[in-house]
Amino acid sequence: MKKEAFEFCQKERIGTTVYAGAKAACQDVAKEIADLIRTRANENREVVLGLATGSTPVGLYRELIRMHTEEGLSFANVVTFNLDEYFGLGGDHPESYRKFMNEQLFSHIDIDPTKAHVPDGTISRDDVFESCQNYEQAIQEAGGIDIQILGIGRTGHIGFNEPGSGPESLTRLVTLDGLTRRDAARDFLGEGNVPRHAITMGVGTILSARKVYLLAWGEGKASIIAKTVEGEPTDNIPATFLQSHKACTFCVDQAAASQLTRISHPWLVGPVEWTTETTRKAILWLARKTGKSLLKLVEEDYNENGMADLLLEQGPAYGLNIRLFNLTQHTITGWPGGKPNADDTSRPERAEPTPKRSLILSPEPLDDVYCLGGTIHRLNTHGNEVAVAYQTSGDLAVPDPEARQAIEMLIDVATSRGHADEEKYGRRLEDDLNTKGNFGFDSENIRHLKGVIRRGEARSSSRTLGLEPIQLKFLNLPFYQKGRYRNFVIRDEDIDTMVNLLNEVEPHQIFATGHGHDPLSVPALCFEVLIRALEKCRETDWLKDCWVWLYRGPGTEWDAHDIDMAVPLSPGELDNKVQGIYQHQTQRSQQPGSSDQRSLNLWNLAREINSGTAEIYDSLGLAEYAAIECFKRHDLG
Ligand code: GLP
Repeated sequence: MKKEAFEFCQKERIGTTVYAGAKAACQDVAKEIADLIRTRANENREVVLGLATGSTPVGLYRELIRMHTEEGLSFANVVTFNLDEYFGLGGDHPESYRKFMNEQLFSHIDIDPTKAHVPDGTISRDDVFESCQNYEQAIQEAGGIDIQILGIGRTGHIGFNEPGSGPESLTRLVTLDGLTRRDAARDFLGEGNVPRHAITMGVGTILSARKVYLLAWGEGKASIIAKTVEGEPTDNIPATFLQSHKACTFCVDQAAASQLTRISHPWLVGPVEWTTETTRKAILWLARKTGKSLLKLVEEDYNENGMADLLLEQGPAYGLNIRLFNLTQHTITGWPGGKPNADDTSRPERAEPTPKRSLILSPEPLDDVYCLGGTIHRLNTHGNEVAVAYQTSGDLAVPDPEARQAIEMLIDVATSRGHADEEKYGRRLEDDLNTKGNFGFDSENIRHLKGVIRRGEARSSSRTLGLEPIQLKFLNLPFYQKGRYRNFVIRDEDIDTMVNLLNEVEPHQIFATGHGHDPLSVPALCFEVLIRALEKCRETDWLKDCWVWLYRGPGTEWDAHDIDMAVPLSPGELDNKVQGIYQHQTQRSQQPGSSDQRSLNLWNLAREINSGTAEIYDSLGLAEYAAIECFKRHDLG
């Protein structure tokens, strides 16, 4: 490792490798595992792996499967122990970790099934203690874990060791934290269905492994990664106990690393090159930290906060302040489609061509209005040709009671008006719903119906924004229709669907999200489809004059230094947007992410986020707006 690299990592208490993306990280870790398997096979010895579930390790498992099928890597000498299992779920339950492991790994490789251990979730309460002791003993009898793979939950849990778990803890029954259960709600089609207890290896069990790799992808993990790597060890964040492990490495992508000091505040740990981007990030941070508006920052503020170099190179402070003030001021525009006939040299969007063809990409119905409802309304009012394309149907997020209500309505209309065929179809749907059980997969008919429900909500929501149904496009990307959460695979048909849309619309500007999200999440997959489709459109004329604007995604917003375009909303426009969100009836009970957002419903959270951005602009000394939606320009390279 180079000297300055040490310097920049000085706050990090765990060796952390930052990869360009999850794929490269998974390839590296898979190679490490494969090397050990092969070495041990040559010595006629077994390898003991500790395995994890969740979205995070799926890419690693796919790479191991590829090595098995393409390179002949054999798992005949491999013994595995999984970290955890939901208490009460049998191996045939769709959401049990046993089923997950069978589907994601075991059934694709030549491991001896009797050597692939997952804690038994069906054990009776009385027998749990003994069963956990047996699990510990089995690990020891196998020779102890050689390589332990971990993900991390947003509470800082590893396995299911929630806050409060000590470093000595062993395999045991635990109660799940509220945030953990909320994070699992999508898999279980509702938080109420998520089990309250689980059996998990302890922190102590994990620390006994000879080598540990913790993987983390996406901005959703950035905060907990920074706390774990740079914070004091505490049982509030059980993952911090990994700091005491001699051979533990965190493998993270850039989004998950983004809050490490070396990336978020590099000037605090060493000399930096003061590019426009770093300067912008540092001064906006300085203003927030000191609680001052940009134009009130003085020399001492710079000197006392690791920015003396910047002052020397580019000072005095007042000049720097003014530069930053102007730069930030120029991100603000009421014309997200560009202002016709105006000087656009310091505007975020170009004036020409006008009107523009604006394509809004929404991974699911709701993301559009939630994140940029005000901007869509403006684009449309300003006469741009707005098209909103819903990339997936979003049917997986419709709770069963909502589907039942729609079915009963269909049957009611059919019977009261004497339409026998429709009634028959309604009864069939009712039957499908009744027979699928609590966590069974929806039949194709039910998924279709749920998609219809979301299309209806999208239409009524977009009407609030002034759009006509003809401006909406429902792509129903096949990866989503054929999959289930954590089980989506992008194929050529997805890319082709997107290419067709792009060539049909020939957009001048595209608004999209998913960049930096967990790679297996719906927004990230939708973004990947877009990027691969744009790649295929390389030779087209329209792409030569097309800008891509990124919105951050529901429940989150760009940091001030990332914002390239800030679109202010009047109080009325904000109310209107909230009305639009409210039309998505099936999503009203969906709870957004972090623990401090718990008490908020969807539309109030959107209100809070947009007015929060406006407050930040105000505190920097810029105009005081009611709300702001913001975007980052994506470089198409
Ligand atoms: C669950 C699992 C953990 C996993 C975590 C994060 O709580 N018990 O082992 O690390 O989820 O899941 P994901 O990888 O889907 O973010």
